[in-house]
Parts: sequence; C-alpha cells; structure tokens
Amino acid sequence: MGSEPTLPPPLLPVATERLLLRTVVPGDRDAIGRYCSDPEVTRYLPFAALDQDGLTHRMERLVGGTAPQAVGEHLTLAVEHEGVLVGDLMLRFTAQHGPDDLPSIAELGWVFAPEHAGRGFATEAARALVDLAFTHYPLHRLVAQLDPRNLASARLCERLGMRHEAHTRQDYPDRDGSWSDTSVYGLLRSEWSQA
Ligand SMILES: CC(C)(COP(=O)(O)OP(=O)(O)OC[C@H]1O[C@@H](n2cnc3c(N)ncnc32)[C@H](O)[C@@H]1OP(=O)(O)O)[C@@H](O)C(=O)NCCC(=O)NCCS
Repeated sequence: MGSEPTLPPPLLPVATERLLLRTVVPGDRDAIGRYCSDPEVTRYLPFAALDQDGLTHRMERLVGGTAPQAVGEHLTLAVEHEGVLVGDLMLRFTAQHGPDDLPSIAELGWVFAPEHAGRGFATEAARALVDLAFTHYPLHRLVAQLDPRNLASARLCERLGMRHEAHTRQDYPDRDGSWSDTSVYGLLRSEWSQA
C-alpha cells in the first residue's frame, strides 16, 4: 500500500481555445529537437543547444513526466496547435509539506518554437497549466525563475498574473563561466482563485 502513488496523473488532453495540451510521446522527438537545437531558444535554459544525445536524454525526461509524486518530479506537456507541436511545458514539484507530505510548491517552465512565437500560444498554454496545477494538485504556490535578460519569459510571467518577488544577484552559474542574476516570480493559490 505504501508504494501506491498518492497523486493520480491529471486527465489529459486539456483543450483551450486554440491549443491541445497532452503528454509528450517519443514521436515528438523531431519537433522538439528542432527548437531545442536552436541556440537562440536555449540561451536562457539550463541546457545548451541539444545534439542528438542531449535530445535523447531530454526526450526520456519529457516522455517520463506523466505522474509526478514527490519533490524533484515533474509533469511535462506537449502543446499542439492544429495538430502541430508548438512547444512544451513543465511543472516540477520543489517542496512538500503537511501530514501527508504532499507537494505544496511547484516551478513552471516553458519552451516554444520561435516560428510560433508572438501569437499568445505560450500564454494560453501556461494559463491552462496554472489552472491544472491548482485544480489537480494540492499546491499553494507556483514559482518561475528566469534570467532577468529573458524579457519574453518575464512578460509571460506578468501576463499570467505572477508577482515579481525577487531579483537575486549572480547566483546562477552561466555556461560561459560567469554568474547570472535570477528573477523570481510567484503566484499563490489565493491570488489565482481570486483572479
Ligand atoms: C518564453 C517564451 C515561451 C515566450 O514566448 P512568446 O511568443 O513571447 O509568448 P506568447 O506565445 O504568449 O506570445 C506573447 C506575445 O504575442 C503577442 N500576442 C499576440 N496575440 C496574442 C494573444 N492572443 N494572447 C496573448 N499574447 C498575444 C503578445 O503581445 C506578446 O508579445 P510581446 O511579448 O512582444 O508583447 C519564448 O520566448 C521561448 O520559448 N523562449 C525560449 C525558451 C525560454 O527561454 N524559456 C524560459 C526559460 S525561463
């Protein structure tokens, strides 16, 4: 009994006005590989532009993100528009709390193909993920952490109603050996339910 998963996977796919959010499958490799091998796309991501080995590793991680239970585990979603994969989303548990030790804080992440940028797809998809996060999981806080130079991502956080809570200095090791700053955005369940 103790090994039974406590949290069932969310009911997918989720449909929004223009998009479908579903689990990532191995057949998404080419579409995800196209934008994850683009250095412009990965400039502010924790990984550099992916080669084939890197893509294999990332696909394993994305395909495996279906039923997170504990801190460090994640849910990943592919985002489709009219049958075309336009990006992917992540929700990763970062803290758990309470008598049942259930996840209470999660981090949001997003990567979208540049050819589908500027149409509000990331906003629409991330809004649906925020709704799913607070309706399906017992979370009380969502967070996004980004390089402050990543203005597109910062604007996305603001469109989601997240609050800019902190700017920490030189706390993130950049790939070029320097340190970069971090912007922290947060959204509490109470703020989400009032919106
Ligand atoms: C972060 C990222 C997802 C943002 O993408 P995006 O295209 O700017 O976001 P959206 O798809 O929500 O589109 C919003 C833009 O479209 C415009 N837009 C057009 N139609 C819109 C609509 N119906 N709804 C909302 N916005 C719309 C908005 O005005 C906005 O433009 P602006 O930022 O110039 O004001 C994208 O830049 C990305 O994948 N970057 C690389 C990966 C990355 O850095 N991830 C984050 C790591 S922390």
